[in-house]
Amino acid sequence: MQDYKEFLAEVLIDEKTLQKRVKELAQEINRDYAGKDLLLICILRGGIVFLVDLMRYITVPLQLDFMAVTSYGAGIRQSGGSVRLSLDLKTDIRHKEVLLVEDIVDSGNTIAYVLEFLQTRQPRSLKVCTLLDKEERRETSVPVHYRGFSIPNKFVFGYGLDLDEYYRNLPFIAVVDQNKYHQPG
Ligand code: IMP
Ligand code: MG
Repeated sequence: MQDYKEFLAEVLIDEKTLQKRVKELAQEINRDYAGKDLLLICILRGGIVFLVDLMRYITVPLQLDFMAVTSYGAGIRQSGGSVRLSLDLKTDIRHKEVLLVEDIVDSGNTIAYVLEFLQTRQPRSLKVCTLLDKEERRETSVPVHYRGFSIPNKFVFGYGLDLDEYYRNLPFIAVVDQNKYHQPG
C-alpha cells in the first residue's frame, strides 16, 4: 500500500481540532440525556474511531451495540444506491434511548435506511450523531441531531474513514488527491 503522504491533498481536520469537537459533542449529549440511560449504536466500520473517543467523554450510563450495512449501486468510493443490513444488533432497542454514531452522512441513504429499519422496533427515542456531514451531496433528507463538522464535497480518509479499507487508523481527517492515489489490486 502507498504511504498516505504520497496522495495527501491536505489535512482537513487535525487531531487536536477533532478531539476538542468530539469532547464538545459528548458534553451536549451529556446535557441532553441527563437522567437517562443511553444506547449507542455504532455503524460499522467507519464509526468506530469516533465512537471510541466520544464514549469516553460521555458520563450518562450507556450501553453499546453495533450494526453494519452494505450499500450497492455506487462507485467504489462514494456511497449511494440501495442499502441493506449485513449485521444486526444484539440488543433489543424497544423503549430505549438510541443514538446512532456514524462517521459521515453523505447522500443520506445509509442513515435513512437505518432509521426506518430501527424505528419499526419502537425505541423510545432515535437520534443521529455524525462526525462529518457532506450536506451538499444529500439525496435523501435525514435528521442530524449532533454534527461534528460540515465538510465540502471532497473524498476524505482517516479517523475511521477508509480508502479501500486502509488508513482508518490515522488520527486526523485528510483529503485525497485522486490523481495521486492508486487503487490497490
Ligand atoms: P451515504 O449513505 O451516502 O450517506 O454514505 C455514508 C457512507 O459512505 C459513510 O458511512 C462512509 O462509509 C461512506 N463515505 C461517504 N463519503 C466518504 C468519504 O469521503 N470518505 C470515506 N467514506 C465515505
Ligand atoms: Mg460508514
